[in-house]
Amino acid sequence: MRVMVLGGAGFIGSAFVRELNKRGIRPLVYDLLTYAGRLENLKDTDHEFVKGDIRDEKLQEAIAKYRPEVVVNFAAETHVDRSIYKPQDFLTTNILGTVNVLDASRHYNFKYIHISTDEVYGEECGNENSPLNPSSPYSASKASADLFVRAYVRTYKVEAIIIRPSNNYGPRQFPEKFIPKAIIRTLLGLHVPIYGDGKAERDWMFVEDTGRIIADLIEKAEWSGEVYNIPGGQRYSVLDVVKMIGEVMGREVEVRFVNDRPGHDRRYCMTTGLRYEVTPLREGLRKTVEWYLNNRWWWKPLIKDRFFVEDEPWSKGGVNT
Ligand SMILES: NC(=O)c1ccc[n+]([C@@H]2O[C@H](COP(=O)([O-])OP(=O)(O)OC[C@H]3O[C@@H](n4cnc5c(N)ncnc54)[C@H](O)[C@@H]3O)[C@@H](O)[C@H]2O)c1
Repeated sequence: MRVMVLGGAGFIGSAFVRELNKRGIRPLVYDLLTYAGRLENLKDTDHEFVKGDIRDEKLQEAIAKYRPEVVVNFAAETHVDRSIYKPQDFLTTNILGTVNVLDASRHYNFKYIHISTDEVYGEECGNENSPLNPSSPYSASKASADLFVRAYVRTYKVEAIIIRPSNNYGPRQFPEKFIPKAIIRTLLGLHVPIYGDGKAERDWMFVEDTGRIIADLIEKAEWSGEVYNIPGGQRYSVLDVVKMIGEVMGREVEVRFVNDRPGHDRRYCMTTGLRYEVTPLREGLRKTVEWYLNNRWWWKPLIKDRFFVEDEPWSKGGVNT
């Protein structure tokens, strides 16, 4: 099967490439290699690679040449704090980039898998038909893209589905995100900044499970704009997860409560019509901690990033700069 993975050099995209390899598929990865996308993430995988932007004409050219049967789009700006600091890139990549992929699907007849997020439902528990109620520039950009997917299915009859995963964690997640940040900062003997009271609740999913569930959906999905929620089914507060990380690492985690993130959702929560197995959080955290312990070469060059160094980076430098 000819599969093209947009954003395949990122965290979930590279786990998905590994899952495809397990199934004997050698995909084409198309990725701009932004700060979050790294060829290191694709080490030891079997793939072709094209460096490119999903917002460009070059995407259409790559699709015309490769003629994929399936295109899976993980390419996005993904960090909520960065979206508060500077929303524009989220609009162009997450919305205009998606529309560019959808335009290609009108001409080249591939099945399109759009990767969305549970954050589009806001704080209310969502099933696949629940209204979208985004709170951050990030989730607003993801919700907008989802609406374009639905519109293209209806108007142009393109074959597409929308998948909404919950909070992923695991190897190769950029250290700006909460779990790798907590692990690495603890390894370095630094405090872990926690927004507000630390009681914000997320639904945690090990990234290898997400890769497997998405790959299964290539075979199982209906292709007329269906939404597939994929919750991890393990809802824990940020503080609970920090405690668990400390237990798994066998170390004291020094927590420092800092000003809450503006617009911070207290929880995410979804139901799903799908059935699948997931890795228990403690086991997934053990694998994740082990990976960061054994792969210091991967994260050492990344820890000068302000979203790793500063407690509330979105509040420094102003919005819209
Ligand atoms: N990580 C999570 O917990 C989570 C949860 C739910 C949904 N999602 C969604 O899953 C997808 C992947 O998330 P992730 O955590 O792997 O993200 P990530 O930030 O680790 O990776 C994003 C990838 O997209 C690439 N990219 C960014 N802009 C691009 C552009 N204009 N053109 C081409 N490539 C570009 C980057 O180089 C990077 O490789 C995103 O759509 C995200 O919204 C993530």
